[in-house]
Amino acid sequence: MNPMIPDPESYFSRLLPRRSTLLERLEKEAALEEIPIVGPVVGELLYLLARISRARRILELGTASGYSTLFLAEACREVLGRVVSLEYDPDLARKAKLNLAEAGLEDAAEIVCADALTWLAQTTDDFDLVFIDIEKEDYVKALPLLHKTLVPGGLLVADNVGFLDADSFNRAMAADPAWRSVSLYALLPGHSPRFDGLCLAVRTA
Ligand SMILES: C[S@@+](CC[C@H](N)C(=O)[O-])C[C@H]1O[C@@H](n2cnc3c(N)ncnc32)[C@H](O)[C@@H]1O
Repeated sequence: MNPMIPDPESYFSRLLPRRSTLLERLEKEAALEEIPIVGPVVGELLYLLARISRARRILELGTASGYSTLFLAEACREVLGRVVSLEYDPDLARKAKLNLAEAGLEDAAEIVCADALTWLAQTTDDFDLVFIDIEKEDYVKALPLLHKTLVPGGLLVADNVGFLDADSFNRAMAADPAWRSVSLYALLPGHSPRFDGLCLAVRTA
């Protein structure tokens, strides 16, 4: 067998995607203000997934300062699509709007200050891709609402599924024939936490 790269944790921690000065500033602010952001690896993964799937209607649950929204909005703009991102903290929602404007992406994303579960229960809109990053115990409650909100073949990306509070979501997802899914546990430099699980799922029925 070909030898593996020695000390892969340090090696891959140095091999990060290139990003803008705004994203780097938000990473520093997140560290100082203890805002749990997805970081550059999952951010770039979100951009790639949105771009590969050519999703035009993207829903994000849990905006915080808009760090992950910037990656999704950039991909969405390329197909003239739009992100709706839900954040219940008004100060964070305001901050996210300013950050999107600074990136020139205000037309590609709308920040809505609302509770995600209430909003999901009421909406009649449908989406091609949903990214969920709210309280982990709420993921399982959101699951039937996400099924209704995603188009058949739509992609669901769930962050932080390595948290104990995501256990019921992980089990429900794995057992539900209406979804086809995989959960990955990986080193995610810059992500909070640094090792965590991500679930990717397609609505099959
Ligand atoms: C982990 S942070 C989101 C980080 C962001 N996705 C990023 O990577 O840049 C979770 C955010 O979701 C918000 N949140 C948690 N539960 C929510 C809910 N039920 N509805 C709306 N926002 C919620 C929190 O206020 C927090 O800002």
